[in-house]
Amino acid sequence: MYTKEMWELSKKVEATRSKRLGIQFPRMSPEEKLEVLNENHPDYSDTGFMFLKHGVNKGDRVPCELGELLDGKSTTLDKEIDLNKVAHDVDVLIIGGGGAGAAAALEAHAKGAKVLLVTKLRFGDANTIMAEGGIQAADKEDDSPAQHYLDVLGGGHYKNVPELAEALVKDAPSAIKWLNELGVLFDKDKEGNMLTNHGGGTSRKRMHSAADYSGAEIMRVLRDEVRNKGIEILEFSPAQELILDSEGKIGGAIIQDLETERRHVIKAKTVILTTGGAGRLHYQGFPTSNHYGATADGLILGYRVGAKLIFADTIQYHPTGVAYPSQIFGALVTEKVRGLGATPLNIDGEQFVYHLETRDVEASAIIRECNVRGKGILCPTGGSGVWLDTPLIDIIHGEGTLESKLPGMLRMYMKFDLDMRKNPILVYPTLHYQNGGLLIDEMGQTKIPNLYVAGECAGGIHGTNRLMGNSLLDIIVFGRRSGKHAGENSKNIELKDLTLNHVEKFNKELEENKINSEVISPMILPTYKHGSKD
Ligand code: FUM
Repeated sequence: MYTKEMWELSKKVEATRSKRLGIQFPRMSPEEKLEVLNENHPDYSDTGFMFLKHGVNKGDRVPCELGELLDGKSTTLDKEIDLNKVAHDVDVLIIGGGGAGAAAALEAHAKGAKVLLVTKLRFGDANTIMAEGGIQAADKEDDSPAQHYLDVLGGGHYKNVPELAEALVKDAPSAIKWLNELGVLFDKDKEGNMLTNHGGGTSRKRMHSAADYSGAEIMRVLRDEVRNKGIEILEFSPAQELILDSEGKIGGAIIQDLETERRHVIKAKTVILTTGGAGRLHYQGFPTSNHYGATADGLILGYRVGAKLIFADTIQYHPTGVAYPSQIFGALVTEKVRGLGATPLNIDGEQFVYHLETRDVEASAIIRECNVRGKGILCPTGGSGVWLDTPLIDIIHGEGTLESKLPGMLRMYMKFDLDMRKNPILVYPTLHYQNGGLLIDEMGQTKIPNLYVAGECAGGIHGTNRLMGNSLLDIIVFGRRSGKHAGENSKNIELKDLTLNHVEKFNKELEENKINSEVISPMILPTYKHGSKD
């Protein structure tokens, strides 16, 4: 519920509404975009970053919170681990239980491989299940993968690895078909045609959705499918280290049972990292829309065996996180809200940015409005935000639209007696996604033989800024590609003796560079203390 002052301020939104209706706010020119990014986006700040002193990315800039973990020590260093005592021996080990892991598991299984999926929380506890707005695919007559490709590259500041962006858009229509046939209940019209919408930076309406719980719907179906196929799953079993064989090929992983704290050796001919993102590292003090387990584990594990990071210093701050009420501070307000026409407004009820700029530009404009121009609305619990004029949705599309297209959002705000059909809501950017990750090729392979990466843990696909709906897409496209490839590839692999020598070597390199950290990594779970973000 808003305070009296906030209700008073919200009247300005109502007052300017009729004047704003039907008028499209101009998009920024490339020069204006560059300026707002340079001056306001956290990625462009001089603070909050450090340079790596070791490993394959020596000299590269990374967020400090990630750098501390990359500089951290392995838990396996001081413990006797008998690598000959193998708990599971499989063809394909998948580390991570979100959408990418599930898609990879299904495809590897379909190749006849023996698959094990390990995940640190429950199967499905991942950013996939929290994804709201939709999944992109150019499967309409007025659209094409080539058009989608141009949007992906434009959004990514033309830094995307072209082959990865190409794979993403080319596989997109078949990814939607696959999900639809598995049973995902996409939004459709009465004739059964998929309903699609715009997202920031899209030149065509190609966002397929399941209301505003698209990720939950996709994960529901994939999880059922994995279980129905009888694929083995170990929950509450985070990976603590990757194992190599004496020839330098991937050989498996050490996992820990969170309940018993016992470690187990998993021997695997191929490993697919699908551990997701890093939102819970709260870069630059930002709140996050991410699930509890998003602590960059895959980046740490991959880096220690020598896999290269790309664009690790580019982070996505979703323009519209909840600014108020504080109980849901940082939670996602899906871009679909703006896709349906809601516009951001300042304290005077004036629009200050086109509502569907790419995410980095939109977020920067909101940060500027609040922190530089002083035109944000102060929240009683601290910080400020801008209005998102959500009542516009029913005004534009007809009564009942918001309720039918955004039921999750509506319910979330109703819990706090805020009816977004009648009242605007307050938003501010929230840490949402890591644009970069471990560098892969078109089949999800890293340079470490038989180590694959898929999903948010992988980098290069989205350049330095991902567009909405291309993450649910990439988990399916690269999950499937890596699963198929690993499943097939595992038939020809013969593992030699397993070793953790690379961990010793990595530790030596830390010492040589005078990095003497007390930090243990991967972090596995964030250590929130009361009243702090870390
Ligand atoms: O705004 C959203 O619904 C988020 C989608 C995405 O990150 O792709």
